[in-house]
Amino acid sequence: MERLNLKPTHKPVQNYYEALRQFKTIGVSHEGAVRSAFQTLLEHCGRQFGWKLVPEWSIRKSGGHPIRVDGALVDEYRLTHGFWEAKDTADDLAKEVKKKIAAGYPQNNIIFQAPDRAILMQNGRVVLDQDISEADAIVQFLKRFLEYVPPEFEEWTDAVEHFQDRVPELGEALRALIEKEEKSNSRFRAAFETLFELCRQSINPNVSKEAVEEMLIQHLLTERIFRTVFNNPDFTRRNVIAAEIEKVIDALTSQSFSRDGFLHNELHCNEVMLLPYYIASMNIEHEFYDLVGTYELFEGICLVDTFELAEGSQATLSFMTPENTARVERQKASPIRVIIGNPPYNAKQLNENDANKNRRYKAMERLITESYAKDSKATLVNTLSDPYVKAIRWASDRIEDEGIVAFVTNNSFVNEIAFDGMRKHLAESFDEIYILNLGSNVRKNPKLSGSTHNVFGIQIGVSINLFVRKRTGEQSRQATIDYAATD
Ligand SMILES: C[S@@+](CC[C@H](N)C(=O)[O-])C[C@H]1O[C@@H](n2cnc3c(N)ncnc32)[C@H](O)[C@@H]1O
Repeated sequence: MERLNLKPTHKPVQNYYEALRQFKTIGVSHEGAVRSAFQTLLEHCGRQFGWKLVPEWSIRKSGGHPIRVDGALVDEYRLTHGFWEAKDTADDLAKEVKKKIAAGYPQNNIIFQAPDRAILMQNGRVVLDQDISEADAIVQFLKRFLEYVPPEFEEWTDAVEHFQDRVPELGEALRALIEKEEKSNSRFRAAFETLFELCRQSINPNVSKEAVEEMLIQHLLTERIFRTVFNNPDFTRRNVIAAEIEKVIDALTSQSFSRDGFLHNELHCNEVMLLPYYIASMNIEHEFYDLVGTYELFEGICLVDTFELAEGSQATLSFMTPENTARVERQKASPIRVIIGNPPYNAKQLNENDANKNRRYKAMERLITESYAKDSKATLVNTLSDPYVKAIRWASDRIEDEGIVAFVTNNSFVNEIAFDGMRKHLAESFDEIYILNLGSNVRKNPKLSGSTHNVFGIQIGVSINLFVRKRTGEQSRQATIDYAATD
């Protein structure tokens, strides 16, 4: 456990009492003034743990107004480690605490502090209630507050450490198991073949057997996390893709080993890789839970290749499972007015989407050749094969005569020569275009060495783009372009 290095003789403690003494001398005792002294002391303590004291921290409550505490100690992942609420000297502190708790204040590691007394609640009960007008007492109090680790954090940290150490070993063991079962378990072979065929049809005709085995391994390594850590015991039963993969896993495990509104119709979302797909499902369902207070299955997410949706052939294909196919069909039949995304960009992207990089999309490619490439004066236009160009082109067609496309993308289309035809088409097919160019192309500006200058920690330039099309009834458009750049 990390310890707070604080002694009664330390300067921040001395300064705290000195500030209170000065306030007293000039007759100031109201909370707004004196709390700054405690805030400074807390900031000092938080820094030792790498936490920032954020004043006026808002806590969302389902079905009510958010609560604002005077301060929260927050780490780099936005996890909160403790809360602080300041009170006047004159307040009856115990009564104030009761009121705040009744109003829904957090009860896990929160200090209610007046200059001469403080109450500490941890895990739902008062663990300290003491006079803090002496340095010894305040030091003991702050130690108890800062060194507290909520039980769930402790479990989480243990689990992460354990998991990190064991992932490679578990992955290898699963790979060996799959190989063995392939030889000896005909039920597994048949189930795997079905899954493999489904993946070929709905994700990528070139998908390799190894990539599908990798999907099984990823699923096995993560599904317990979804079930237990995220407290979603039904995840594999309710998620339509996870349920399908579970069938193969059932066959795999049969012999070898045992193991332990807006949401409804309006929102659609696509992902082609299994793990990001699981994570997106969980994030969306959890955000809904946070806002509304009930857990509901998000039926708008599809495991599908978005660009495949523009290819004529997919009308005859199924997409992994009947439920997933139904979702894809629902999406295809829905008018879509707003498309938001961070599409992949291959141009030497670090985490290039392996399963997809060799994929050809005839219809999309033809569309781009006949528009963005045809109207280019450049001799070399192969950069137009970048998937982010396809994403813009796909979204531009998908919103039809009215809508907004909001994408964070590679910024090469803003001024590179090969994109002149694309710029022309964008200007002529939208009414308003807003571009915030975040720059940061490391190759073009060697002064920006490394990847720390880039919002995504990558080396290529990035821009945030909004393309707006209004229903005008006119065929020809000429967009107004609002452009701003950060470097
Ligand atoms: C740059 S990441 C953005 C991830 C996430 N949306 C975010 O902003 O953190 C691009 C995501 O698009 C997915 N993707 C790539 N090609 C796709 C395609 N053709 N259809 C659907 N999803 C795709 C990738 O698997 C990846 O998760």
